[in-house]
Amino acid sequence: MTTDRPNDVLRVYGNTPLRGEVRVRGAKNLVSKAMVAALLGNTRSHLYDVPRIRDVEVVRGLLELHGVRVTDGAEPGELVLDPTNVERANVDEINVHAGSSRIPILFCGPLLHRLGHAFIPDLGGCHIGDRPIDFHLAALRQFGAVVDKTPQGMHITAPNGLQGTKFELPYPSVGATEQVLLTAVLADGVTELRNAAVEPEIIDLICVLQKMGAIITVHTDRVIEIEGVKRLEGYRHRPIPDRIEAASWGAAALATGGDLFVRGARQADMMTFLNVFRSVGGQLEIHDGPDGGIRFYHPGDELRAVAIETDVHPGFMTDWQQPMVVALTQARGLSIMHETVYERRLGYTEALNQMGATIQTYRECLGGTPCRFGRRNFRHSAVIAGPTKLHATDVVIPDLRAGFAHVIAALAAEGCSTVYGVSLINRGYEDFEAKLAGLGAHIERP
Ligand code: EPU
Repeated sequence: MTTDRPNDVLRVYGNTPLRGEVRVRGAKNLVSKAMVAALLGNTRSHLYDVPRIRDVEVVRGLLELHGVRVTDGAEPGELVLDPTNVERANVDEINVHAGSSRIPILFCGPLLHRLGHAFIPDLGGCHIGDRPIDFHLAALRQFGAVVDKTPQGMHITAPNGLQGTKFELPYPSVGATEQVLLTAVLADGVTELRNAAVEPEIIDLICVLQKMGAIITVHTDRVIEIEGVKRLEGYRHRPIPDRIEAASWGAAALATGGDLFVRGARQADMMTFLNVFRSVGGQLEIHDGPDGGIRFYHPGDELRAVAIETDVHPGFMTDWQQPMVVALTQARGLSIMHETVYERRLGYTEALNQMGATIQTYRECLGGTPCRFGRRNFRHSAVIAGPTKLHATDVVIPDLRAGFAHVIAALAAEGCSTVYGVSLINRGYEDFEAKLAGLGAHIERP
């Protein structure tokens, strides 16, 4: 089994309970958006606690292509973003640089405000679903933008400027909510967004924009109101911690029978995960304070089966699903996972079955709520029968979160697995291999 990057391989020796401490830094899914927001300011921004991950590098490169000066600040993990000389970038360079990242679409509003033009490369689909951008484009058009699709990508202009508008999202999309926020803050007049996403990362982005001078009100029932202002300044911001990474390590402790202290993990952003973790039989200790975190550990007793549905906030995050399924292969009974956010986010379970798991996927909605995918032929529900002994195999990583799940499955399994495509994990997990090694994992590059 190979990938197009033959050196991108990790050998993982199993039967290893992970023990020790890891630190999580600023949330990937906030940091990348806060970097884009810096484009809206007239002065320099300072972003702290930025993880060294591939997605940050991609956004940094895209900002630099547009004339933003990005330098490392005095504090470790600090980025200084200077947008005073923003300029149009070369279309071919944007295409090469963006790769498979979804972030370029969020450059639209800021670039339209700064330059009157934005180019968005063809973003394509991916392993977890089609990931269309129809909500983004509909919202931009309603602000007054004109979208011209070409074979290379989309050219977007705003011949009459951008005007505040009323817009209701068909689904509370994280990206489309960010699109509206980043466009509305400097638009002329008031924008009302209904059915908005309200994930902690969105609220943190609103905090960034408020620091810059924006006027944004979050009402009840997913309504966000943005009063356009004439000018925004730079910000200084310390992001919320990465609750996806924190939960991934928590699930890894459970799956491998280990004991991990995740420094930086914050209870308030992870309550739904913590409830599920406890229902499965995992043990927790929550430490508050500036240097606090959460200890996740396996109690030694048998784990219990649970039924979970992924959902938008405050539901169980779709990105928590994959490592938790690995832990559920070790729970007694039949667990259910109903994935309601992405239509194809259970494909990775095939590799777990090759490792000895018993996971059956279904087209039907097996959760309490029928979802958008129920009658559309997507295998988006899974039944996990456990406990099952896992054994080593060769596996190709399909996407970021599934990749992490495969590696922890390999750590829980008997024998030595070969994992291909591990660099995908570096998109979202800082120092992944070093952290694993520090927790006692026996891994090596062949
Ligand atoms: N959707 C549409 N049309 C659109 C936009 C979204 O149909 O124009 C659909 C999507 O296809 C999906 C659903 O709406 O079925 C939710 O997508 P959303 O827009 O909320 O996701 P996103 O903004 O593209 C972010 C994170 C994802 C995370 C989701 C859900 C970033 C860079 N990505 O994606 O994170 O899973 O929100 O919380 O913030 C990851 O970190 O590995 C990752 C995939």
